[in-house]
Amino acid sequence: MDKLYVMLNTGFKMPCLGLGTWKSESGLVGDAIKHALVNCGYKHVDCAYIYQNEKEIGEAFSSVFSNGIKRDDVFVTSKLWNNSHDPNDVEKACRDTLIDLKLDYLDLYLMHWGLATPVSKGSSPKGKNGKYDLAPISVRETWEAMENLVKKGLVKSIGVANFTGAMLIDMLSYTKTVPAVNQIELHPYLQQERLIEFCNDVGIAVTAYSPLGSPGNSIDRAELPVLLDDLLIIKLAHKYDKSSAQILIRWGLQRDTILIPKSVNFDRILENISVFDFVIDSGDMDSISRLDKKMRYVDLWDWSGLPYFD
Ligand code: A2P
Repeated sequence: MDKLYVMLNTGFKMPCLGLGTWKSESGLVGDAIKHALVNCGYKHVDCAYIYQNEKEIGEAFSSVFSNGIKRDDVFVTSKLWNNSHDPNDVEKACRDTLIDLKLDYLDLYLMHWGLATPVSKGSSPKGKNGKYDLAPISVRETWEAMENLVKKGLVKSIGVANFTGAMLIDMLSYTKTVPAVNQIELHPYLQQERLIEFCNDVGIAVTAYSPLGSPGNSIDRAELPVLLDDLLIIKLAHKYDKSSAQILIRWGLQRDTILIPKSVNFDRILENISVFDFVIDSGDMDSISRLDKKMRYVDLWDWSGLPYFD
């Protein structure tokens, strides 16, 4: 029997598979959410302020939650953007997201990146040299402000995204609130075994973003190999009579990670959750583990000029 939920260190259950919304286009994302929740059985939606589509997602939530689906049965994540890290801005940023999503609480609120930029410079604060300007705010100050959101009942759990091992090790030296989740890029070309093992050891659940290799991000990284076209993945898709995407998602589930594949296409939304009727055998799991290239499709360097992952 497949595990459908992960138990977070806060005592809340988080569904192992969710719908991602990064790059989900306006005009399409609302219907995608409704289709996923009403017709396909999704119980988890991953959002973020910076995706600039939370208002449309909020309209969809409002529609489904007034038509039979219970708010408490859906796990909703959002994320704090870098220019709202000032402790005085954190609660307002969270409340703005709640207003847009038309919710009175979030299940999970993540610090989107472990860096702060000046509020006055907007969401993409490029300085004179084309690189991000930074603000003198520590992760610790922002994290403590996020702890208050839990106390106020605005969010059930807090966590981080894009945190490296070193960043987590530092955090754990000062906080008693161990992040419930670290959301990181994960797929066969970027397996991050050691970071996952560390998160497991300290009780942090791991969510995989871009689990399909972020094909929608090809404009930024067009030169990179396409994961969905990998010959081994295609071979396994034939062997199990599934699609390449289903092999990638199933592989992530069998590694006990949470996954949030993005789609606005009705058929693919259903396809991506239809992964509970087969098992990849251990030999094939091992073959997929040998695909690791430690290769990122999503590198902050590309748009900020910061050596975040170096
Ligand atoms: P679309 O929204 O048109 O379906 P990731 O989650 O790794 O970032 O991947 C998201 C990208 O993969 C989007 O471009 C999405 O396009 C596409 N995609 C989602 N599901 C599938 C699928 N089952 N097969 C092929 N491409 C998919």
